[in-house]
Order: sequence, then C-alpha cells, then structure tokens
Amino acid sequence: MNNEEKLNNNSQRYKFISTNDGSVGLYNYIVDDIYHSIYGAREEAEDKFVRPLEFKKNFSNKDNLKILDICYGIGYNSKALLKKIIQTKYKGKVSLDIVEIDKELVLLSPFVKDGFFKLYPEISYLLLHSFGQELVSNEPLYNDLHRVLTSDDNKKYIEPFYRPLIKKLKKWRYINTSRRTMKAFLHNIYYHCISQRNKKPYKCLKLNNFSIKTYFEDARVVVQSLSNQYDIIFLDAFTPSKLPTLWSLEFFRELYRLASDNCMLLTYSNSASVRHAMIESGFTVGKLFDKCGRHCGTAASKNPELIKNKLDEYDLGLIKTNAGVYYRDKNLNQTPEEILEEQKTRKLSSNLESSSHYIKRYKKELEHHA
Ligand SMILES: C[S@@+](CC[C@H](N)C(=O)[O-])C[C@H]1O[C@@H](n2cnc3c(N)ncnc32)[C@H](O)[C@@H]1O
Repeated sequence: MNNEEKLNNNSQRYKFISTNDGSVGLYNYIVDDIYHSIYGAREEAEDKFVRPLEFKKNFSNKDNLKILDICYGIGYNSKALLKKIIQTKYKGKVSLDIVEIDKELVLLSPFVKDGFFKLYPEISYLLLHSFGQELVSNEPLYNDLHRVLTSDDNKKYIEPFYRPLIKKLKKWRYINTSRRTMKAFLHNIYYHCISQRNKKPYKCLKLNNFSIKTYFEDARVVVQSLSNQYDIIFLDAFTPSKLPTLWSLEFFRELYRLASDNCMLLTYSNSASVRHAMIESGFTVGKLFDKCGRHCGTAASKNPELIKNKLDEYDLGLIKTNAGVYYRDKNLNQTPEEILEEQKTRKLSSNLESSSHYIKRYKKELEHHA
C-alpha cells in the first residue's frame, strides 16, 4: 500500500493539535507532515490564500465566482474565503468545488474550533447544509466521525456550540429517517445563525447564491474530469518532497487548462521545482509575503497583471539549478515513490549547478557589484 492509499485507510491517520491563533490544526502520522502551520491554521489561510487575492479589487465585481479548493482538509482556505465573501457583501453567485481524498475530514470541517464560528456561524451552517446528506447516509463513516466528535480527548477541539447537538444527532439517527434527522439538526443551527447577535452578517448570505460540490477522490483523477474555468484555485497539498503527486508538471498543466484568463492560483509552497513547473505550464508566477514581509508562498496566473511580486532575477536563477528540477507524473497515476525516484534520476543526470553553489555565487556577485 502506498502513502496515498494509506491516507484513506488508516483509522489512526491524524491527530488534532492546537495552533497559536487558537484554531485547531491536524498532524498526519502517515505522511509525517502537518496540515496547518503551527503559527495558526486560520491565520495561515487568511495570510497565504485569501489576502493575496485582493478580493475586493480583483473579484468583487464578477457575477459568478468559481472556486476550486484542492486539498480541502478541514476547510480553512475555503472558510477564510467565504468569510471574505461575506465581509465584502459580495452579491454574485458562488460555486465552490471541494477536492479532498479524505472524506472524513471534509465532514468534520463544520464542527472544528476554527476561529470563524463566533463571528461567522453561517459559514459552518452553509457547509453543513451542503454535506448534510453525506453525513447521515453513510453509516460506517458516520460512526467513525461521531466517535471522533464525541471522544473526551477531542472535546477541546470541537466547537462548544456543536457538542450537545452532536449527541442529539446520534439519537435522532435511530429514531428518524436520515433526511428528517438532518433537517432537525440544521434547524437548530439555522436559528443560531439568525439569532439577534448574528443578524447582520447573516443578511449577506443567501443560501441559494452558493453551490458547493464535493469530490472525494485523488485530485489527479478529479482535475482531469473537470471542465469549468475557475477564478480562484487553492492548492494546499502536503510538502512536495514528502508527497509529490500534486506538484508535477502534468498536474499544473491540468490546472492551467482549468484556469480562467483572470484566475489566481495560490499555494503555500516556495519550492523552486514547483515554481518551475508552473512557469513551464504557462503561468506567470510571483512570490507571496506575509504581514512581516517573509516569503510565504506562490501565486500564479495567466494574467501577469494579477501577479504583484513577480519572480525576480534571483528566483529565476534558482529554478535553473538542480533545486528547480520539477516532478513528472506522465499519466497522472504514478506512486509518490516512483515520482520521487524519477526526479532523483533526472537530477543526477542533469549536471545542473547545485542550489547552494548558486546561492553563494549570487551573493558574491551582488557584493562585487555593490
Ligand atoms: C496540507 S493538508 C490541507 C489542509 C487544508 N487545506 C485545511 O485547511 O485543512 C493536505 C490535504 O491533502 C489531502 N490529500 C493528499 N493527497 C491527496 C490527493 N491525491 N488528492 C486529494 N487530496 C489529497 C490530505 O488528505 C490532506 O487533507
């Protein structure tokens, strides 16, 4: 069994962790990687995936917004964007396509303590509304999820508002049909959303303006089946060197096909090989900076005007070193091990300058010109 298969089959695949902004993060045992930055799962989503969009300027005048969230996990990036959509009082239609191999995480996402719930409970309501039937119609998955949500060890990671409701959900499930169960459950949450305290933000959220679709499969298979032209694409896969499947040249070519002319593709990765694959696919590529001015990711678009901080001479030099050798996945079906091995072979036979040599040489040349 390879890592991808293990990701969906192992009941002990993840654990909750607390992150520094008070929101809940996850750690994955199989890939040995965190799902969220320890400095804050919510802040990370806002800093790396939403702030760089400059939503008001670039997207708020569109009638239709098509979003593709690849590697949704427990949904921080989509939630942060939904918050922005509510904040800016965006009135158009929103379609959100969620791609995630681990279904349990998606169904868990409305319930976790994410730092959005207090001011924007309607985000969680919207997600539950979309995932509702899935949640009650799959018995084994439902039982696993219920165990996670009600375990004493996990209590502090679950939004307090949901704890008593989740207990009821279990009871209702045995008394009612699943449709009625979910209706009653959503009814409670709906009234919470429109309670006096939340009246104002709720006004901006008309449920029929949102359509959410879920794809619970390998993103490589999903992207090949899609034909939409997306305005916003989030790519939040695990670290490339640990799980390279969603960072190959062939994968970025698919994303290029799915990107509208003014689409922005965002990722947290600063990797030279990832940037090289994006450029090779046709994108204009730029760097992201966090609030403190540190590098925090990469933006790509077909429209160069949307890219604020284009890669500079140094970055473009780096992608020509051995660090810039991108991953290949010819038919989008190779195992992570095969992809890593193939890249290693190409690196060895390429005779390219090493990145460390390049960095030293570049610094020296700068000093020389200073
Ligand atoms: C870094 S985490 C994403 C965190 C997420 N954006 C969030 O806000 O919680 C990476 C996610 O990619 C998913 N994943 C890994 N391989 C995948 C694949 N081939 N297709 C789709 N999802 C995959 C994992 O299950 C995991 O949830």
